[in-house]
Amino acid sequence: MFPPSPRLPAVLQTVRFLRTPFSLLHECFESLGPVFHLRLLGLGKWVFVSEPELIKTLFKADPDVVRSGEINSRQLGFLLGLDATFSKDGDDHLRRRRLVLPHFNGPGAKDLLPLIRERTLVAIDRWPHDTFAFQSWAHRLSLDVLGHAMFSASTDEQIDELVERFDRFATDGLRSPLIMMPWLQVDLGRWSPWGRVLELRRRVFDAVRMLVRDRLADREGYDQSDIASKMAGSREADGSFLSEDALVEEIVNDIFAGHETTGNILSWCLECVTSRPDVRDRLREELDRVLAGRPIEASDLRQLPYLHAVIQEAIRYRPLAPMAGMRLTKEPFTLGQFRLPPETIVVQCFPVMANRTDLYRDPERFDPDHFSDDNKPPAYHWNPFGGGRRMCLGKGLAEIELAVIMAEIVRRYDVEICQSKVEPVRDGVFFAPSRGLRVRMTPRPPS
Ligand code: HEM
Repeated sequence: MFPPSPRLPAVLQTVRFLRTPFSLLHECFESLGPVFHLRLLGLGKWVFVSEPELIKTLFKADPDVVRSGEINSRQLGFLLGLDATFSKDGDDHLRRRRLVLPHFNGPGAKDLLPLIRERTLVAIDRWPHDTFAFQSWAHRLSLDVLGHAMFSASTDEQIDELVERFDRFATDGLRSPLIMMPWLQVDLGRWSPWGRVLELRRRVFDAVRMLVRDRLADREGYDQSDIASKMAGSREADGSFLSEDALVEEIVNDIFAGHETTGNILSWCLECVTSRPDVRDRLREELDRVLAGRPIEASDLRQLPYLHAVIQEAIRYRPLAPMAGMRLTKEPFTLGQFRLPPETIVVQCFPVMANRTDLYRDPERFDPDHFSDDNKPPAYHWNPFGGGRRMCLGKGLAEIELAVIMAEIVRRYDVEICQSKVEPVRDGVFFAPSRGLRVRMTPRPPS
């Protein structure tokens, strides 16, 4: 049996999915249960799953039967290329993932903490005195952190140029409505809408290529202090190096995957904390007690459970996207009572999972105690980073970045939200606070 679909005509399902997916998905869950499908024009049938046990089945499935790379590259290969971890499957995927993962997780991610802190303080110094859109600032900072982590051995001017090009690509290219409408992606030259997106993309790839060429010229001798140099100098299991194209695509993919996600979540974290003075005060108490006015270090992270709970809760409360993790069946696949034929697209429906009353007490309320130490959600209940062997490759870095940036802002500044209402609105592929979250920052008076 194939999962049910709402009675709405496909065209209405598509329009609602593009404009207001969260309410559509909640309605479907209420009327059809935790597994249903939508018929999306130009995109096919998508099965949405919001049952922890079935998410586990999906994430742990044999990667030859249920693939990710193939569907990721079908959706985004035209922008990101086909030779990166994101777009690979099987052994190719594992080999590449092993080469990249250590730079963004475990000790590799902790080593980046001083850089994240330094870049945060530089960005804070550039805050305007009046109101500004926090989301743009947060995107730019996430880009800046990734640019410096990847290319710290290059000059500041080179990194700034890369960040600038990426920012333009993200702002003018990736926010084009055409991104979600493959049937309208026609290149009629650089002044046509799609031609313009491709031109912005080319400028990003060119900038990355220029920076990696220095490193490729002397793979093992080049200053190994940055991630791009380390990737250029490391060998795959068969002893070979990454090709120039592979290295460029890997870096573009990581920066692409890592900056809007982190920037938007940061914006939601700030909005949630600012709207709840009781949460802000409790967070400040923890930060002041543990850090006692000194710079945050990697060893502090374990001592800040409330900060982590606030971040996890903000991710739950304000989902970034209608799904987190996409798979494609290549053989008949059993998911609970359903039998999915080959070529079925299946996604984790994170917003529905995050709002289930049987999984979270009072889910409509922002409450970091949903993630307190004695209240941790069981495995497969909260998976904003996907799961299994496709789990987000930048999770470690993202978690440290969110913690450090939030800690630096909350302990030093009083934040005022300068708009009457903040709502989730579509912003490219993700959802973000309306109007980019207008804020004013005032240094916190000494207590
Ligand atoms: C809070 C921020 C982030 C969120 C919520 C997020 C979320 C995700 C999700 C849901 C996936 C798909 C997982 C799956 O299919 O099971 C993913 C994959 C990925 N993410 Fe992230 N991500 C974040 C930050 C980052 C950062 C900072 C980087 C880069 C350093 C990054 C790089 C990647 C890559 C390369 C993949 C593909 C992994 C693979 O296919 O093996 N992400 N991310």
